[in-house]
Amino acid sequence: MSQSTLKLNSTLMLLSCEKLTKRFQEANKQPLTIFENISFQLKQAEKVAIVGRSGSGKTTLLNILGGLESPTSGAVYFMEKDLTQLNEKEKSHIRNHQLGFIFQSHHLLPEFDALENVCMPLLIRGMKPHEAQKQSIEILKKVGLSHRIQHKPGMLSGGERQRVAIARALVTRPKLVLADEPTGNLDFQHTQQIYDIMLGLMEALNTSFVVVTHDLELASLMDRTLKLQQGQLGQ
Ligand SMILES: Nc1ncnc2c1ncn2[C@@H]1O[C@H](COP(=O)(O)OP(=O)(O)O)[C@@H](O)[C@H]1O
Ligand SMILES: [Mg+2]
Repeated sequence: MSQSTLKLNSTLMLLSCEKLTKRFQEANKQPLTIFENISFQLKQAEKVAIVGRSGSGKTTLLNILGGLESPTSGAVYFMEKDLTQLNEKEKSHIRNHQLGFIFQSHHLLPEFDALENVCMPLLIRGMKPHEAQKQSIEILKKVGLSHRIQHKPGMLSGGERQRVAIARALVTRPKLVLADEPTGNLDFQHTQQIYDIMLGLMEALNTSFVVVTHDLELASLMDRTLKLQQGQLGQ
């Protein structure tokens, strides 16, 4: 495929990875290839699950999609810009304005309460504290936590912490949410509840979603599932 065709394809998509390869090279060791020549495209509002065994490279791939790690080669077009060609400042701007991350373990700031954690990305953007609080309270209500806004993460249950993390990822109304086993530490009932909340909010906001999960039943709730195995991404 020519460079101009690649560019044209990528502009029709929200996210388009072209021939991504990731290798780790440690001193005096053979290079470790995690995946090679992976291509993958995501449309606006599309929801995709990535499944694969532990160690298959799912977290590495998700981090590359969000510009948190660099591939060894290949391109990641997000909203027509190749993330691999941007500097840290440009990438942070995109992460703060267009992307939401939900991690396996919530990554909330322990010394701040639920409301302050959710406000954080809005304040980083430069929103006035009063407005940031108003929007954060609104989304905390939507995830069913209006009675817990002044609780710090240590005073919340696992499911509640994960709901705060979802609120924080979605409060900025991102174009794309990347989630790495977001319910990996929760029991089945809480997992179902979290997915209902996440998918409901994203439906309302027209958000695209890439989720890494072990749970095939939950993967089946997405528009499609891709499998990462032996360094290749397939159906
Ligand atoms: N910084 C690193 N240096 C060397 N190897 C790494 C590094 N990060 C991840 N790996 C290796 O890459 C492989 C894929 O890791 P990861 O993406 O975390 O897999 P998964 O999320 O599917 O469990 C693993 O074998 C892991 O040990
Ligand atoms: Mg992982």
